[in-house]
Amino acid sequence: MNDVSKKLRLVSGVKPTGNVHLGNYFGAMRQFVRLQDSYDCRIFIADLHALNQIHNPAELRNNTLEIAKTYLAIGLDPSKVTLFKQSDVPLVCELCWIFNSITSMSLLERAHAYKDSQAKNVPVNMGLFDYPVLMAADILIYGADVVPVGRDQKQHLEMTVDIGQKFNHVYGEVFKQPKALIGGEVRGVDESEIGTETGAVVGLDGRKMSKSYNNVIGLFDSMEVLQKKVMSIKTDSRGANEAKDPETDTVYAFYSLVASPENLSKLKERYLAGNISYKESKELLLEELKGFLAPIQAKKAELDANPEYVKRVLAEGAEKAEIEAKEMMQVVREKVGLALC
Ligand code: ADP
Ligand code: TRP
Repeated sequence: MNDVSKKLRLVSGVKPTGNVHLGNYFGAMRQFVRLQDSYDCRIFIADLHALNQIHNPAELRNNTLEIAKTYLAIGLDPSKVTLFKQSDVPLVCELCWIFNSITSMSLLERAHAYKDSQAKNVPVNMGLFDYPVLMAADILIYGADVVPVGRDQKQHLEMTVDIGQKFNHVYGEVFKQPKALIGGEVRGVDESEIGTETGAVVGLDGRKMSKSYNNVIGLFDSMEVLQKKVMSIKTDSRGANEAKDPETDTVYAFYSLVASPENLSKLKERYLAGNISYKESKELLLEELKGFLAPIQAKKAELDANPEYVKRVLAEGAEKAEIEAKEMMQVVREKVGLALC
C-alpha cells in the first residue's frame, strides 16, 4: 500500500506548449517520474496559464491532451500521482482573486516575464501580468511542501512564498512556505553538468536545445526523421584517426544522455584514442536514441488510440484535486469573511 500520509506534498504545473523535445524531457519532465514514489504528487497541466499565450481553442485542446499523453508515456503513474487539468478546479481562480486583493502592483512589476515583455515592447495582457498570482494560488491551494521547477521559475516561487506570508499576516496562519526544487538540485550535480556549461541539453547545432532555435530532437520524431537529424549534427572536422574532445562534441553530449555508463566510457576511450569517426559515433548514437525513444513512442501510440482513457485519468485526477481545493477554500473563505459562519 502506498502510504502517502508521511510523504511531503509535491505540486507542479506544466504549460501545454507544442511538441516535447529531449531538452524538455531531460531538463524538466522526467523529474516528476523520478519523484513520484518519494512525494505525494499533484501535477497539473497549466491550461489557464497557457491562455495568456494561446488564443486558438483547437491548439490549446490538442496541446493539453498531448502533454497529458506524454507524461503517461514517459512513466507517470496515475495510481501514484494526481494528474489533472488546472481549469478543472476553478476554485484556484477564486483564490487567485483573493490573493490579487492583497498583492501590490509593485511586486508583479518586478516579475521577469512581465519585464521581458515590456522591454521587447510586446503588449502585456492581464493574464501575463497576473501570472505569478495564479501560480501562487496553484501551489498554495494544494498545500505544497515542495515545487520542482526550472531555474527560470525561481522568482515565481519566491513570489508565491511572499503572497502566502502576506495572507497569513493579514488573516492568520493558513499557508505553508513551499520550497523550490530547482532542476539541477533534483537531478544531482553530475547530470546537471550534461551538455553545456549551463547544464542545458544541447541541440543539433550545439546551442541550447529549444523550439525557437529549430534544433530539437522531438520525443516523437519518427525513426526516419531521427536518422536525418542525427546525421546532420554539427561536429568539428577531425578525421577518424584524430583524437576527439568528448567535452565539446555534440554527438557525445547526446550520447551521454541516452547511453549506459559502460557504453559511454567505451565511446570516451575511443574519442580520446582517436579510433572512431564522427560518422560511426553518430551511428552508435542513433542506435541508443532509437532504443531510448521506441518504448516511449509505443506507449504514446497506445494512448493516441485511447483518448477516452487519457480524459478519464484527467477527470479522476480533477475529482481528487477538487476535494482538497474545496477544503482549503472553506478555511480561506472563513478567514477572509466571505463565509457567513
Ligand atoms: P523551449 O525552449 O523549447 O520553448 P520551454 O520553454 O517550453 O522550451 O521549456 C519547458 C521546460 O523544459 C522548462 O522547464 C525548461 O526549463 C525545460 N527546458 C527546455 N529546453 C531545455 C534544455 N535545452 N535543457 C534543459 N531544460 C530545458
Ligand atoms: N509557470 C510554470 C512554467 O511556465 C508553469 C506553472 C504554472 C507552474 N503553475 C505552476 C509550475 C505551479 C509549478 C507550480 O513552466
